[in-house]
Amino acid sequence: MKKILIIFAHPAIARSKINAAMRGAVEDLGGVTFHDLYAIYPDFLIDVADEQKLCQAHDVIIFQHPLYWYSTPAILKEWLDLVLQYGWAYGVKGRALEGKYFFQALTAGGDTDSYRKNGLNTFTIGELTAPYRATANTCRMEWLPPFTVLGMHRGMSDEEINRHAEEYRRVVTALRDGTFDMQKAKQNEYLNSNLDLTIRKV
Ligand SMILES: Cc1cc2nc3c(=O)[nH]c(=O)nc-3n(C[C@H](O)[C@H](O)[C@H](O)COP(=O)(O)O)c2cc1C
Repeated sequence: MKKILIIFAHPAIARSKINAAMRGAVEDLGGVTFHDLYAIYPDFLIDVADEQKLCQAHDVIIFQHPLYWYSTPAILKEWLDLVLQYGWAYGVKGRALEGKYFFQALTAGGDTDSYRKNGLNTFTIGELTAPYRATANTCRMEWLPPFTVLGMHRGMSDEEINRHAEEYRRVVTALRDGTFDMQKAKQNEYLNSNLDLTIRKV
């Protein structure tokens, strides 16, 4: 069984719809540690040693967050800047994260068409998340495409929100249980595309 660490960043969880639902769908799962950065570090004073220990104790690291200005909420950038130290996360001797799986679980206001070439947001989600892919590569991690929920601005029904949350639970469970086909998933734009092909039935 793989151990999963969800590093969660949402500065206003009380007003959240989709991230709150996704959180509710995974935080009670065995083998999953749900780590809410804004709740633990309201003053942004991140405990680097604690965070590094936590990462080392898990096999899969997920950044779950809403897309803010085509990026993450600020605390995740702070986390990256402080926790991924030279000689620990990268560099010749920095191998603490080597071989661990990494992906983002992100939600956005813009819809699928707006994240196409020539769409309203100019770039695809793959292009916008390239810095995270590059970071994972530098840390010798196994990058996976982002689990992506788009279209929050158009007002998503509770039914649709629950369906995305349930898919998130399926993905996290399959990763934990080793029934997720990483190689197939890597070929998809989003981690939650074609789940019937990427999740093996047991
Ligand atoms: C400060 C801020 C910046 C945002 N930037 C973007 C953005 O760049 N692209 C986008 O599609 N949506 C953007 N949004 C919309 C959020 O991504 C969207 O409201 C969120 O994913 C919904 O998740 P929640 O229900 O968990 O809050 C932004 C929202 C805020 C508050």
